[in-house]
Amino acid sequence: MHDKKKSNHHDSVLFNESINGLNIKSNGIYIDATIGRCGHTRGILERLGKSGRVIGLDQDIDAIEYAKMNFTDPRLSLIHSNFSKLNVQLEKLKLIGKVDGILMDLGISSPQIDNAERGFSFNKDGALDMRMDQSKKLTAAIWLKESSESEIANTLYQYGEEKRSRIIASTIKEYQKNKDIKSTLELTELIKTVVKPGKNKHPATRSFQAIRIAINDELKMLSEALNQTLDALAKNGRLAVITFHSIEDRIVKQFVHKHSRPKQLPKGLPIISDESNQCTLKDLGKVKPTNEEIKINRRSRSAILRVVEKC
Ligand SMILES: C[S@@+](CC[C@H](N)C(=O)[O-])C[C@H]1O[C@@H](n2cnc3c(N)ncnc32)[C@H](O)[C@@H]1O
Repeated sequence: MHDKKKSNHHDSVLFNESINGLNIKSNGIYIDATIGRCGHTRGILERLGKSGRVIGLDQDIDAIEYAKMNFTDPRLSLIHSNFSKLNVQLEKLKLIGKVDGILMDLGISSPQIDNAERGFSFNKDGALDMRMDQSKKLTAAIWLKESSESEIANTLYQYGEEKRSRIIASTIKEYQKNKDIKSTLELTELIKTVVKPGKNKHPATRSFQAIRIAINDELKMLSEALNQTLDALAKNGRLAVITFHSIEDRIVKQFVHKHSRPKQLPKGLPIISDESNQCTLKDLGKVKPTNEEIKINRRSRSAILRVVEKC
Protein backbone atom coordinates (compact mmCIF):
# COMPACT_ATOMS: atom_id res chain seq x y z
CA MET A 1 0.00 0.00 0.00
CA HIS A 2 1.12 3.56 -0.66
CA ASP A 3 2.69 4.86 2.55
CA LYS A 4 1.16 8.33 2.80
CA LYS A 5 3.09 9.13 5.97
CA LYS A 6 6.40 8.97 4.14
CA SER A 7 5.00 10.17 0.83
CA ASN A 8 7.46 12.02 -1.37
CA HIS A 9 5.01 12.62 -4.16
CA HIS A 10 4.34 16.17 -5.34
CA ASP A 11 2.44 17.13 -8.51
CA SER A 12 4.14 20.21 -9.93
CA VAL A 13 1.62 22.97 -10.55
CA LEU A 14 1.48 24.88 -13.87
CA PHE A 15 4.43 22.76 -15.00
CA ASN A 16 4.46 23.43 -18.77
CA GLU A 17 3.36 27.01 -18.37
CA SER A 18 6.17 27.88 -15.95
CA ILE A 19 8.90 26.02 -17.85
CA ASN A 20 7.76 27.68 -21.10
CA GLY A 21 7.61 30.99 -19.26
CA LEU A 22 11.29 30.67 -18.34
CA ASN A 23 12.16 30.41 -22.05
CA ILE A 24 15.02 27.99 -21.32
CA LYS A 25 18.25 28.59 -23.25
CA SER A 26 20.33 25.48 -23.78
CA ASN A 27 23.42 26.89 -22.06
CA GLY A 28 21.57 29.07 -19.57
CA ILE A 29 21.89 29.42 -15.79
CA TYR A 30 18.65 28.83 -13.90
CA ILE A 31 17.62 29.07 -10.26
CA ASP A 32 14.86 26.89 -8.89
CA ALA A 33 14.38 28.81 -5.64
CA THR A 34 11.91 26.25 -4.25
CA ILE A 35 12.95 22.78 -5.41
CA GLY A 36 10.45 20.83 -3.28
CA ARG A 37 10.44 17.40 -4.91
CA CYS A 38 12.34 18.65 -7.98
CA GLY A 39 9.43 18.48 -10.45
CA HIS A 40 10.15 21.83 -12.06
CA THR A 41 13.90 21.28 -11.70
CA ARG A 42 13.55 18.10 -13.75
CA GLY A 43 11.66 20.05 -16.43
CA ILE A 44 14.37 22.71 -16.61
CA LEU A 45 17.16 20.10 -16.77
CA GLU A 46 15.37 18.31 -19.62
CA ARG A 47 15.53 21.46 -21.74
CA LEU A 48 19.10 22.39 -20.87
CA GLY A 49 22.15 21.39 -22.86
CA LYS A 50 25.41 20.02 -21.45
CA SER A 51 26.75 23.40 -20.40
CA GLY A 52 23.52 24.61 -18.80
CA ARG A 53 23.24 24.89 -15.05
CA VAL A 54 20.52 24.76 -12.37
CA ILE A 55 21.00 25.94 -8.81
CA GLY A 56 18.30 24.51 -6.55
CA LEU A 57 17.41 26.15 -3.25
CA ASP A 58 15.04 25.09 -0.51
CA GLN A 59 14.81 26.06 3.13
CA ASP A 60 13.51 22.58 3.98
CA ILE A 61 16.42 20.19 4.55
CA ASP A 62 14.17 17.25 3.57
CA ALA A 63 13.81 18.73 0.07
CA ILE A 64 17.59 19.10 -0.28
CA GLU A 65 18.19 15.55 1.01
CA TYR A 66 15.56 14.20 -1.41
CA ALA A 67 17.25 15.96 -4.33
CA LYS A 68 20.68 14.69 -3.29
CA MET A 69 19.38 11.12 -3.15
CA ASN A 70 17.49 11.28 -6.44
CA PHE A 71 19.66 13.42 -8.73
CA THR A 72 23.22 12.86 -9.75
CA ASP A 73 23.08 15.36 -12.58
CA PRO A 74 26.37 17.33 -12.67
CA ARG A 75 24.47 20.37 -13.97
CA LEU A 76 22.50 20.64 -10.70
CA SER A 77 23.89 22.30 -7.54
CA LEU A 78 21.88 22.22 -4.33
CA ILE A 79 21.85 24.78 -1.55
CA HIS A 80 19.96 24.60 1.74
CA SER A 81 18.88 28.20 2.00
CA ASN A 82 15.96 30.52 2.31
CA PHE A 83 15.41 32.30 -1.01
CA SER A 84 15.59 35.58 0.89
CA LYS A 85 19.36 34.93 0.83
CA LEU A 86 19.33 34.52 -2.95
CA ASN A 87 21.99 37.09 -3.71
CA VAL A 88 24.23 36.04 -0.83
CA GLN A 89 24.31 32.60 -2.46
CA LEU A 90 24.74 34.03 -5.96
CA GLU A 91 27.58 36.29 -4.84
CA LYS A 92 29.44 33.25 -3.51
CA LEU A 93 29.02 31.65 -6.94
CA LYS A 94 29.89 34.92 -8.75
CA LEU A 95 26.58 34.75 -10.60
CA ILE A 96 25.01 38.12 -9.82
CA GLY A 97 23.61 39.57 -13.06
CA LYS A 98 24.25 36.33 -14.94
CA VAL A 99 21.10 34.34 -14.23
CA ASP A 100 18.83 33.52 -17.19
CA GLY A 101 15.79 32.46 -15.21
CA ILE A 102 14.44 32.17 -11.69
CA LEU A 103 11.47 30.06 -10.65
CA MET A 104 9.65 30.49 -7.35
CA ASP A 105 6.87 27.97 -6.70
CA LEU A 106 5.65 29.23 -3.35
CA GLY A 107 3.96 27.65 -0.38
CA ILE A 108 4.26 24.09 0.80
CA SER A 109 4.88 20.83 -0.99
CA SER A 110 2.59 17.80 -0.76
CA PRO A 111 5.15 15.82 1.30
CA GLN A 112 5.24 18.66 3.82
CA ILE A 113 1.43 18.45 4.20
CA ASP A 114 1.26 14.65 4.00
CA ASN A 115 3.89 13.98 6.66
CA ALA A 116 1.84 14.48 9.83
CA GLU A 117 4.90 15.10 11.98
CA ARG A 118 5.63 18.36 10.10
CA GLY A 119 2.45 19.79 11.65
CA PHE A 120 1.12 21.58 8.54
CA SER A 121 -2.08 19.58 8.21
CA PHE A 122 -5.27 20.36 10.11
CA ASN A 123 -6.60 16.84 9.58
CA LYS A 124 -3.55 14.72 10.42
CA ASP A 125 -2.44 14.50 14.00
CA GLY A 126 1.09 15.64 14.69
CA ALA A 127 3.09 18.08 16.78
CA LEU A 128 2.01 21.66 16.07
CA ASP A 129 5.22 22.52 14.23
CA MET A 130 4.78 24.12 10.74
CA ARG A 131 8.44 25.14 10.39
CA MET A 132 9.60 24.93 6.78
CA ASP A 133 13.18 25.31 7.97
CA GLN A 134 13.65 22.75 10.73
CA SER A 135 16.76 24.53 12.02
CA LYS A 136 14.65 27.47 13.23
CA LYS A 137 13.38 27.52 16.83
CA LEU A 138 9.92 29.01 16.43
CA THR A 139 7.23 26.35 16.04
CA ALA A 140 3.50 27.05 15.73
CA ALA A 141 3.01 25.69 19.27
CA ILE A 142 5.56 28.14 20.71
CA TRP A 143 4.12 31.01 18.68
CA LEU A 144 0.57 30.32 19.91
CA LYS A 145 1.81 30.13 23.49
CA GLU A 146 3.88 33.32 23.36
CA SER A 147 1.59 35.54 21.28
CA SER A 148 -1.06 37.74 22.85
CA GLU A 149 -4.73 37.37 21.98
CA SER A 150 -4.65 40.46 19.77
CA GLU A 151 -1.48 39.31 17.96
CA ILE A 152 -3.14 35.99 17.17
CA ALA A 153 -6.37 37.67 16.07
CA ASN A 154 -4.55 40.13 13.82
CA THR A 155 -2.45 37.38 12.24
CA LEU A 156 -5.48 35.20 11.50
CA TYR A 157 -7.24 38.18 9.98
CA GLN A 158 -4.34 39.55 7.93
CA TYR A 159 -2.73 36.32 6.71
CA GLY A 160 -5.78 34.05 6.63
CA GLU A 161 -8.52 36.60 5.90
CA GLU A 162 -10.34 34.79 8.72
CA LYS A 163 -13.48 36.72 9.71
CA ARG A 164 -13.79 34.80 13.00
CA SER A 165 -10.24 35.76 14.00
CA ARG A 166 -11.21 37.46 17.30
CA ILE A 167 -13.36 34.62 18.64
CA ILE A 168 -10.75 32.02 17.59
CA ALA A 169 -8.00 33.97 19.36
CA SER A 170 -10.01 34.34 22.56
CA THR A 171 -10.93 30.62 22.49
CA ILE A 172 -7.23 29.74 22.14
CA LYS A 173 -6.22 31.99 25.03
CA GLU A 174 -9.05 30.66 27.23
CA TYR A 175 -7.98 27.04 26.55
CA GLN A 176 -4.33 27.88 27.28
CA LYS A 177 -5.28 28.92 30.83
CA ASN A 178 -5.47 25.16 31.57
CA LYS A 179 -3.36 23.52 28.91
CA ASP A 180 -0.86 24.31 26.12
CA ILE A 181 -1.92 23.47 22.57
CA LYS A 182 0.62 20.94 21.38
CA SER A 183 -0.95 19.04 18.51
CA THR A 184 -2.51 19.94 15.17
CA LEU A 185 -5.79 18.17 15.90
CA GLU A 186 -6.05 19.86 19.30
CA LEU A 187 -5.97 23.21 17.49
CA THR A 188 -8.35 22.00 14.76
CA GLU A 189 -10.91 20.84 17.33
CA LEU A 190 -10.72 24.17 19.17
CA ILE A 191 -11.28 26.14 15.94
CA LYS A 192 -14.22 23.87 15.05
CA THR A 193 -15.99 24.91 18.26
CA VAL A 194 -16.29 28.49 16.93
CA VAL A 195 -16.11 28.26 13.12
CA LYS A 196 -18.72 26.54 10.96
CA PRO A 197 -17.53 24.60 7.90
CA GLY A 198 -17.61 26.73 4.73
CA LYS A 199 -18.91 25.60 1.35
CA ASN A 200 -15.56 24.23 0.17
CA LYS A 201 -13.40 25.10 3.14
CA HIS A 202 -12.56 23.25 6.31
CA PRO A 203 -13.07 25.53 9.36
CA ALA A 204 -9.33 25.44 10.14
CA THR A 205 -8.00 26.15 6.61
CA ARG A 206 -7.60 29.89 7.04
CA SER A 207 -6.15 29.73 10.55
CA PHE A 208 -3.56 27.11 9.61
CA GLN A 209 -2.54 29.13 6.55
CA ALA A 210 -2.18 32.28 8.64
CA ILE A 211 -0.10 30.65 11.39
CA ARG A 212 2.15 29.01 8.80
CA ILE A 213 2.72 32.35 7.04
CA ALA A 214 3.48 34.04 10.36
CA ILE A 215 5.95 31.57 11.79
CA ASN A 216 7.86 31.21 8.52
CA ASP A 217 7.68 34.96 7.89
CA GLU A 218 6.66 34.08 4.36
CA LEU A 219 5.59 37.47 3.06
CA LYS A 220 8.74 39.29 4.18
CA MET A 221 10.92 36.53 2.69
CA LEU A 222 9.01 36.78 -0.59
CA SER A 223 9.38 40.58 -0.83
CA GLU A 224 13.09 40.39 -0.03
CA ALA A 225 13.68 37.69 -2.65
CA LEU A 226 11.70 39.50 -5.36
CA ASN A 227 13.80 42.63 -4.90
CA GLN A 228 17.01 40.61 -5.21
CA THR A 229 15.95 39.08 -8.53
CA LEU A 230 16.42 42.52 -10.13
CA ASP A 231 20.19 42.30 -9.62
CA ALA A 232 20.40 38.53 -10.02
CA LEU A 233 18.93 38.36 -13.53
CA ALA A 234 20.87 38.96 -16.72
CA LYS A 235 19.37 41.12 -19.47
CA ASN A 236 16.35 39.27 -20.93
CA GLY A 237 16.43 36.88 -17.96
CA ARG A 238 13.02 35.67 -16.82
CA LEU A 239 11.34 35.45 -13.42
CA ALA A 240 8.39 33.07 -13.00
CA VAL A 241 6.47 33.07 -9.71
CA ILE A 242 3.63 30.72 -8.76
CA THR A 243 1.50 31.86 -5.83
CA PHE A 244 -1.28 30.03 -4.01
CA HIS A 245 -3.29 32.74 -2.28
CA SER A 246 -4.32 36.31 -2.90
CA ILE A 247 -2.01 37.82 -0.26
CA GLU A 248 1.09 36.39 -1.96
CA ASP A 249 -0.19 37.21 -5.44
CA ARG A 250 -0.79 40.84 -4.41
CA ILE A 251 2.87 41.17 -3.38
CA VAL A 252 4.07 39.74 -6.70
CA LYS A 253 1.58 41.85 -8.68
CA GLN A 254 2.68 45.06 -6.93
CA PHE A 255 6.35 44.19 -7.48
CA VAL A 256 5.71 43.63 -11.19
CA HIS A 257 3.71 46.86 -11.53
CA LYS A 258 6.32 48.89 -9.68
CA HIS A 259 9.17 47.76 -11.90
CA SER A 260 7.41 47.42 -15.23
CA ARG A 261 6.11 50.97 -15.46
CA PRO A 262 8.42 53.57 -16.99
CA LYS A 263 10.11 55.51 -14.20
CA GLN A 264 8.29 58.77 -13.46
CA LEU A 265 10.48 61.81 -14.00
CA PRO A 266 9.72 64.93 -11.94
CA LYS A 267 7.37 67.19 -13.92
CA GLY A 268 9.03 69.88 -16.01
CA LEU A 269 12.36 68.08 -16.38
CA PRO A 270 13.47 67.76 -19.98
CA ILE A 271 13.91 64.14 -21.08
CA ILE A 272 17.63 63.90 -21.78
CA SER A 273 18.01 60.27 -22.74
CA ASP A 274 15.51 57.55 -23.55
CA GLU A 275 17.17 55.26 -21.01
CA SER A 276 16.19 57.50 -18.10
CA ASN A 277 12.58 56.39 -18.20
CA GLN A 278 13.00 52.79 -19.27
CA CYS A 279 11.38 50.09 -17.19
CA THR A 280 13.33 47.42 -15.31
CA LEU A 281 10.97 44.53 -16.02
CA LYS A 282 8.67 43.64 -18.89
CA ASP A 283 5.37 42.18 -17.67
CA LEU A 284 4.66 39.00 -19.67
CA GLY A 285 1.33 38.38 -17.99
CA LYS A 286 -0.28 35.81 -15.74
CA VAL A 287 -1.65 32.29 -16.23
CA LYS A 288 -4.01 30.15 -14.18
CA PRO A 289 -4.35 26.35 -14.28
CA THR A 290 -6.75 24.82 -16.77
CA ASN A 291 -9.91 23.04 -15.55
CA GLU A 292 -8.20 19.81 -16.53
CA GLU A 293 -5.23 20.48 -14.25
CA ILE A 294 -7.55 21.46 -11.38
CA LYS A 295 -9.48 18.19 -11.84
CA ILE A 296 -6.26 16.15 -11.60
CA ASN A 297 -4.62 18.25 -8.89
CA ARG A 298 -6.99 20.12 -6.56
CA ARG A 299 -4.05 21.89 -4.93
CA SER A 300 -3.57 23.85 -8.16
CA ARG A 301 -6.99 25.51 -8.00
CA SER A 302 -5.80 28.75 -6.41
CA ALA A 303 -2.48 28.98 -8.29
CA ILE A 304 -1.45 31.99 -10.36
CA LEU A 305 1.75 32.15 -12.40
CA ARG A 306 3.24 35.55 -13.23
CA VAL A 307 6.17 35.92 -15.61
CA VAL A 308 8.40 38.94 -16.17
CA GLU A 309 11.52 39.61 -18.21
CA LYS A 310 14.41 41.84 -17.22
CA CYS A 311 14.72 44.72 -19.68
C1 LIG B 1 5.25 24.08 -3.79
S1 LIG B 1 6.74 23.42 -3.21
C2 LIG B 1 7.77 23.38 -4.62
C3 LIG B 1 7.54 22.17 -5.48
C4 LIG B 1 8.49 22.04 -6.65
N1 LIG B 1 8.38 23.14 -7.57
C5 LIG B 1 8.25 20.73 -7.39
O1 LIG B 1 7.80 20.77 -8.55
O2 LIG B 1 8.51 19.67 -6.82
C6 LIG B 1 7.40 24.77 -2.31
C7 LIG B 1 8.78 24.52 -1.72
O3 LIG B 1 9.32 25.80 -1.43
C8 LIG B 1 10.01 25.75 -0.22
N2 LIG B 1 10.03 27.12 0.29
C9 LIG B 1 8.99 27.87 0.69
N3 LIG B 1 9.40 29.08 1.08
C10 LIG B 1 10.74 29.11 0.89
C11 LIG B 1 11.74 30.11 1.10
N4 LIG B 1 11.44 31.30 1.63
N5 LIG B 1 13.01 29.80 0.79
C12 LIG B 1 13.34 28.59 0.28
N6 LIG B 1 12.44 27.60 0.08
C13 LIG B 1 11.16 27.87 0.38
C14 LIG B 1 9.23 24.78 0.62
O4 LIG B 1 10.05 24.25 1.64
C15 LIG B 1 8.80 23.75 -0.40
O5 LIG B 1 9.71 22.69 -0.48
